[in-house]
Amino acid sequence: MSVLGDLRYHIKTFGCQMNKHDSEVAAGLLDVLGLQPTAAVEEADLIVFLTCCVRENADERLRGQVASLKVLKTDSDGRTPPLIAVGGCIGQRDGEKLLEVLPHVDIVFGTHNIERLPALYQQALAKRDAAEHYVPWRPEATVEVQQESDSFAADLPTTREHPWHAWLPITQGCDNYCSYCIVPYVRGRERSRPFEDVVAQAHALVADGVLEITLLGQNVNSYGRDLYGTPRFADILRAVAATGIKRLGFATSHPKDLLPETIEVMATTANILTHLHLPVQSGSDRILAAMGRCYTRDDYLNLVAQLRAALPHITLSTDMIVGFPGESEADFAGSLALAREVCFDQMFTFLFSPREGTPAATMENTVPAELAQKRFDQLVECVQSSALICNERLVASRQEVLIEGASKRDEKMLTGRTMGAKIVHLPLPDAASAADYAGRIVPVTITAAHKWFLQGELLDQAACQ
Ligand code: SAM
Ligand code: SF4
Ligand code: F3S
Repeated sequence: MSVLGDLRYHIKTFGCQMNKHDSEVAAGLLDVLGLQPTAAVEEADLIVFLTCCVRENADERLRGQVASLKVLKTDSDGRTPPLIAVGGCIGQRDGEKLLEVLPHVDIVFGTHNIERLPALYQQALAKRDAAEHYVPWRPEATVEVQQESDSFAADLPTTREHPWHAWLPITQGCDNYCSYCIVPYVRGRERSRPFEDVVAQAHALVADGVLEITLLGQNVNSYGRDLYGTPRFADILRAVAATGIKRLGFATSHPKDLLPETIEVMATTANILTHLHLPVQSGSDRILAAMGRCYTRDDYLNLVAQLRAALPHITLSTDMIVGFPGESEADFAGSLALAREVCFDQMFTFLFSPREGTPAATMENTVPAELAQKRFDQLVECVQSSALICNERLVASRQEVLIEGASKRDEKMLTGRTMGAKIVHLPLPDAASAADYAGRIVPVTITAAHKWFLQGELLDQAACQ
């Protein structure tokens, strides 16, 4: 019989910030159960995957990674092999079918029942302990997926990755059903968390020493529509900012629902990040209509103009899909022209990936892979130059940087983010350790610009918070 306190867990996270938050919940639940975290997958007794299926390559990565763990199941060096749990969006989509492709998975759960992870783990342990020759293939595997849930993952125990940062979900699910997107099918209908609950949790996080909160939702701008009949995102933004949190960010904003009052709150509230991620997806009205995005290219450009008028130093990032069915040269030229005109700080570019069950997966006039790749490369080149232009404008400026820790590439360097969400690398002062600085906001002068990061120098150590 296993003693839980001796067991260790390792979590692997794929996909968006929702999954990053869910991973912190999974860690919180397993900590409460008495397990210990481990950074070494080969030492773990339970390996949990929080998965993503937004594009085909995310599916493939999961299959590759889980398949590679088979060796831990078969060649375990005399120790009891780990149990493997797959949750998140692929778990929700595939349920028991997942076992046909990955028969050595022991536990499958979905996006609506993460709170069941400890119970499912205990069930799986009991089955293994009771069986003489345990193989996870049905019926031994433990599979539980729910179609909807009433609870909010945010109300569950959480172990944050960084003590100074917290994800704070304000909505779950999505009602937009963009024609290419699987998210509404795996995360369910949009549901807002009551206003008072969000604000109370924000107060608790501030009291717990959190410096930065990120409000989360697939479309934060429609927050409250289901509960209050009208969106209340500007209100919740103002209320959370008023809790005394040092920095407040949010993701993701759908352009069709970004209201002037939200821009006004952003412009008049000093602790809200001067950064907005505003996915545009395409610069062609024809393609935007086929995607079901409910705004035009001009609507988007008008929003950018309003944002820049209200917040001249705002940094803007976006998502763009290349090779959507029916995308002509002229449509793609529209995307490229929009990217040049806006001059984004950052763009996440994606090749269209057909997702079974979505309307776009069966649309005609698919774009040949080679042509889509050529367009993709052109767009990436355009974004690289706009990102560099934006970063060069910051050279010699003073920035308040929230230090996240040592740089992954060089332990003598610190890494942090500005209020505009720009990554900055700066030298660690002599005789100091990165741990002394992690989770502190420090003044920095920007000394050099690169495409995806800035270099800086600590301005005044005495002014560090
Ligand atoms: N809710 C956010 C919004 O509406 O902008 C985005 C959510 S989605 C998790 C992140 C990005 O994945 C999208 O903005 C879109 O660019 C991209 N995406 C979603 N489905 C895709 C697909 N089938 N093929 C390629 N990219 C896709
Ligand atoms: Fe997907 Fe559209 Fe919802 Fe974003 S708004 S999650 S792209 S359906
Ligand atoms: Fe992926 Fe699910 Fe997020 S499909 S992008 S992890 S909501």
